[in-house]
Amino acid sequence: MRTLSGIQPSGEMHIGNYFGMMKPLIELQETTEAFAFIANYHAMTSLSDGKALAANTLNAATNFLSLGIDPEKTVFWVQSDIPEVLELYWVLSNFTPMGLLERAHSYKDKVAKGISANHGLFSYPVLMAADILLFDSQVVPVGKDQIQHVEIARDIAIKFNNEYGEILTLPEFKIDENLQTIPGIDGAKMSKSYGNTIDIFTTKKELEKRAKQIVTDSTPMEEPKDYTTCNIYAIAELFLNQQELLDLQERYKGGKEGYGHFKLYLAEVIWDYFQPYREKREHYLAHPDEVREILKSGADKARAIAAKNLDKIRAVTGSRY
Ligand code: TRP
Repeated sequence: MRTLSGIQPSGEMHIGNYFGMMKPLIELQETTEAFAFIANYHAMTSLSDGKALAANTLNAATNFLSLGIDPEKTVFWVQSDIPEVLELYWVLSNFTPMGLLERAHSYKDKVAKGISANHGLFSYPVLMAADILLFDSQVVPVGKDQIQHVEIARDIAIKFNNEYGEILTLPEFKIDENLQTIPGIDGAKMSKSYGNTIDIFTTKKELEKRAKQIVTDSTPMEEPKDYTTCNIYAIAELFLNQQELLDLQERYKGGKEGYGHFKLYLAEVIWDYFQPYREKREHYLAHPDEVREILKSGADKARAIAAKNLDKIRAVTGSRY
């Protein structure tokens, strides 16, 4: 089964992103034929600062590689390294009814927020369809907000196939049912816009400072504490195994330690968890050309598939003469 994931290169790198999106994506390489790319063309719909976009793109690639994308297992590239996707985007535009795009939630939401729409934003789902269809993707794992976009890709593929025969593979979306919401330091969903995040790659000092800001009740140190309602514990659950959790529960019940102790313990746990990834990242940050090499070789692999598919598409649509 071939899975395809597109990742917008944004600056966000907190443990909510990691457990909510990055880790499940990286794990796909163990069970599927995994394809993943940095969607830098899509990011142009919200970022016109070229320097920032280039930096974000390399940064996102570096982070994904550091956190476990294995280029031997996942075909991993940057969207703009395969310009064929823009050719397919044009071809597919001719099989995309205006109404299909006018009904897209993400487009409508942005317009409702007062963002003045340009054609890039409007046709965003067509480019996403090209991403998906160019590589014969069977399953597209997405968050809830992207389901409709995969359905649009499928609709476009059906229209194309109705005209030319079974050429494009019809994709299906997949959402991770058992994915829990990752709580932030105030217990609400961890999100940059709520200002309640814990960053992955930060200094130990910053991490401890952040841990100390986790919101708790005011149970005094010598009283037993309720771990089931505690934000520290909720975050610790992401990192600890069963035995470690039982031990922590005992400490909550023991009434010998205060929340301050648990916060410092959590900071330590998070720090240790990311230690190997941090080391890998230091290496890639010092050798950005290694990252570029990996991306280039991923693009070469993906491009071979793109070329084969485009060949068929050019033949039936008449752009090859
Ligand atoms: N639109 C997706 C998002 O914002 C990113 C994306 C672009 C994508 N192309 C894709 C996701 C193809 C899956 C498949 O999250």
